[in-house]
Amino acid sequence: MAGIALGLPTFGAAPGGPATTACSPAPGLPAGMPHTADRPDAPGLIDRYGRTATDLRISLTDRCNLRCTYCMPAEGLDWLPGTEVLDDAELLRLITIGVEHLGITELRFTGGEPLLRKGVESIIAGAAALSPRPQMSMTTNGLGLTRRAEGLAAAGLDRLNVSLDTMTPDTFTRLTRRPRHADVINGLAAAAAAGLTPVKVNAVLMRGVNDHEAVDLLTFCLEHGYELRFIEQMPLDAQHGWARSEMITAEEILEHLGARYRLSPHTAPRGGAPAELFDVDGGPATVGVIGSVTRPFCGDCDRTRLTADGQIRSCLFATTETDLRVLLRTGVPDEEIAQAWRGAMWEKLPGHGINDPAFLQPDRPMSSIGG
Ligand code: 5AD
Ligand code: SF4
Repeated sequence: MAGIALGLPTFGAAPGGPATTACSPAPGLPAGMPHTADRPDAPGLIDRYGRTATDLRISLTDRCNLRCTYCMPAEGLDWLPGTEVLDDAELLRLITIGVEHLGITELRFTGGEPLLRKGVESIIAGAAALSPRPQMSMTTNGLGLTRRAEGLAAAGLDRLNVSLDTMTPDTFTRLTRRPRHADVINGLAAAAAAGLTPVKVNAVLMRGVNDHEAVDLLTFCLEHGYELRFIEQMPLDAQHGWARSEMITAEEILEHLGARYRLSPHTAPRGGAPAELFDVDGGPATVGVIGSVTRPFCGDCDRTRLTADGQIRSCLFATTETDLRVLLRTGVPDEEIAQAWRGAMWEKLPGHGINDPAFLQPDRPMSSIGG
């Protein structure tokens, strides 16, 4: 077996204790090194629990032009140094390895805000030229889409997920700390006009802020043919301010929606999709609820994650990372990088453990991992 994945702890020590590693080292390996000796010799990104990752989430940048209160502080964060961020050629090489060696069939570009990365269209065009061509989507906050949607579609992007948490401009400003509600609404329309469909909308509800808006958000999305998904707030904010009591649960969301709409479980199989889908008033329109905390779906997860600085994470909540950037920059061959990636995914834990009293929030915040 060529090469061993480097399981590096995330950004140094967690507050209150050292960063943990996913497993104890095999005899003779330094702490943090995954032991993949028990991994069968298979080409794909399999793990010990029978899952295969085929969906690659790529954070193109950790920067953002909004400051959502559930994500980061008003002053922003210490962004990754430019030298540590993979350049376009490095990124395309990893995407190519993922598609050609590891069975990746789907790419999701995320951030931070992915549209802040220069040259995103050319990265998409490069990935679209691969064989087999991966399905490509992007999760964006929607700013700038009025100018960019057509170019993204022309480059080969298939679909967009746009974050929108409120139908009230003032609440948008309070929640994101920027007065840009109209830009997002117009961005959604531009995405649909460019054929980046189905346009999906992600919403996070926060108690006392926008939790009374579930019905209004769904009504808006139904009127425009957007597919709405509510996401339970997860402990991934940079400020470590998440509190379970403040989180609006999937059950509460369904109760709110039930006051106005008749919801029935959608019959199509869910596969690895995080959203539990419901037909609205008998269909065909649907609404999704992503109960990451109260209804975890880790057993069916098919995702592998690449950060903008070239680290593989097997999970949003992983406390270890595998450094592909160092392998790229020391000139190792593709197959060795592929093998390090396989090792990282073999170590994927069975679940996120949020409901475990010993749960430790990862040091790297959501904005630097990608949604
Ligand atoms: N919990 C749940 N969703 C979050 N998002 C950002 N931070 C969190 C969090 N802590 C959402 C964004 C976006 C997507 C990438 O994830 O609103 O829609
Ligand atoms: Fe930016 Fe998304 Fe974080 Fe909001 S949630 S600040 S849009 S990265």
